[in-house]
Amino acid sequence: MAGSETGTEPGSYERGLFVTFEGGDGAGKSTQIRRLAETLRDLGHTVTVSREPGGTPGAEAVRHVVLDTSAAEPFGPYLEAMLFAAARNDHVEQKIRPALERGEIVLVDRFMDSTRVYQGASENLDPGFVQALERIAIAGLVPDLTVILDIPPEEGLRRAHERRDPSAPVDRFEKEDVTAHELRRVAFLEIARKEPERCRVIDASGSADDVAQKVLDVVKTAFAEAIFREDAISPAAAHETAEEKPGAPAE
Ligand code: TYD
Repeated sequence: MAGSETGTEPGSYERGLFVTFEGGDGAGKSTQIRRLAETLRDLGHTVTVSREPGGTPGAEAVRHVVLDTSAAEPFGPYLEAMLFAAARNDHVEQKIRPALERGEIVLVDRFMDSTRVYQGASENLDPGFVQALERIAIAGLVPDLTVILDIPPEEGLRRAHERRDPSAPVDRFEKEDVTAHELRRVAFLEIARKEPERCRVIDASGSADDVAQKVLDVVKTAFAEAIFREDAISPAAAHETAEEKPGAPAE
């Protein structure tokens, strides 16, 4: 099994490791994913990096509709949630699951928690609808570990503003005020509180180096030190050790 089928047993994988990164705008997810991927590749692991919405041609087409145009907006948050779910299911089946079955480490920028937060909490959708949609979208593939990069909204917005390409169109989610960002921050923290086995919250307000070190520490703790040993270049070797020692909570 690649990824936990239940979400309650981190480290219960047989092949591959599935790590998702979540958090508000400007938390630095893509930088941290890139750095973690480099570290893991230096250790000899095969790493697939992807993002949502997107990651496959079908899901990237949905991304274009939802983020780059306003085409889906008039139809409301339920349709939008279904579009994110459709994109996610394609991503899971075409890219994430096959990579995990090959024994790779898969790092994904946003996954199911973004729908829970951006559509479920922000748009106040019926929780039963959001849960049903999630089950269909992920088809049993719960991340082994979810890293939530936590940052005060003002700081996140400042960073997001600094790094954005002035010629690119502003996407819908970037237009909102601090209150909307704070609501989402609270919703991410609430997910972490409810699912402490899967989720680790990291304070992302420090320097990129500091945050990268914290991310590494969390990944080491969750998947056992063996993954970082120089002689542990085969992911399979790391899995055997990790299976004996389920992930412990982050400090
Ligand atoms: P993106 O440009 O990838 O930026 P970032 O992840 O750095 O914020 O934007 C993705 C946007 O899509 C982001 O504002 C969150 C939103 N989103 C949802 O609303 N629901 C989802 O399920 C996902 C995956 C993303």
